[in-house]
Amino acid sequence: FDESHYGFPEIYYKIMETDTQRVDAFHKAFQLHNNLQDATVCEIGVGTLPLTKLYMPYVKKAYLIENNPDLVPYINKEIAKHPWADKVEVIYADALTVDLPEKVDYVIGELMSIYCANEFQVQIFQHMREFLKPNGKLFPNRIVNFARLCEAEIDPDVHHYPVNFTRHQPMFLTQQFLVNEIELLKEKKQGVKLSFPVPVLFSGTVNALYLESYVEVTEGSNFTGTDSLMPPTVLKTTNTQEVKAGDLVHIDFSFDYGSSLDEISCVLS
Ligand SMILES: C[S@@+](CC[C@H](N)C(=O)[O-])C[C@H]1O[C@@H](n2cnc3c(N)ncnc32)[C@H](O)[C@@H]1O
Repeated sequence: FDESHYGFPEIYYKIMETDTQRVDAFHKAFQLHNNLQDATVCEIGVGTLPLTKLYMPYVKKAYLIENNPDLVPYINKEIAKHPWADKVEVIYADALTVDLPEKVDYVIGELMSIYCANEFQVQIFQHMREFLKPNGKLFPNRIVNFARLCEAEIDPDVHHYPVNFTRHQPMFLTQQFLVNEIELLKEKKQGVKLSFPVPVLFSGTVNALYLESYVEVTEGSNFTGTDSLMPPTVLKTTNTQEVKAGDLVHIDFSFDYGSSLDEISCVLS
């Protein structure tokens, strides 16, 4: 994204809008909450409004936040076309610091990247949850990060790459293991620092992690990465290690939410 305002190039918005797996997971979550009927809602990073349009007919009031100046004309024009326009207050501001005039029943925001790196999903929700009513809900609610150790064919000048359906899987050397769980309503930390052993299933040379994030939008609606959102990602480990089936590999793992994936440290011993 553009670091000056966090917005994406136009084509990315088209890809996100047409990613039915991603949009449907949010739709199902809204339906599980009675389509947010009569609720006061705040959505962060509305983009081209694909999620917004799903709940707007039902809610009482919505504060829509976006910080990408290139989207202002589109958002204004699009909202004006709908009968629900008078229920909307658009706030063009940075959600890391924005103030709302009242507390809301739901905060919605899809600002996710794999492992909550690259985008400030965690920090934004840490700020915005101050505006939630006592029984209010966040969409998404929880993100669970998994990894596998693997041997990947990866160019020397590439640090990580997403695994889309055209790419080959790397050679897996361990089972999938849980790295961390981020409960967005409660998370206080700004990142993760972990140290743990992993049993090796196959012999080889570990040179990468295969990262996956599972997103719970709300209880009853979760999904794993899609092509537009958090696809599984191969990330080089800080060092490489020869392993044999039956070994235990020790991992020292640390990263800050929102920082570049390339800054994740994963030391094997
Ligand atoms: C991944 S896109 C999602 C767009 C849309 N909600 C959707 O589901 O297609 C994230 C959007 O959040 C906006 N955004 C990112 N960080 C933001 C911030 N700190 N404050 C306000 N908007 C932000 C970006 O400009 C982008 O439009």
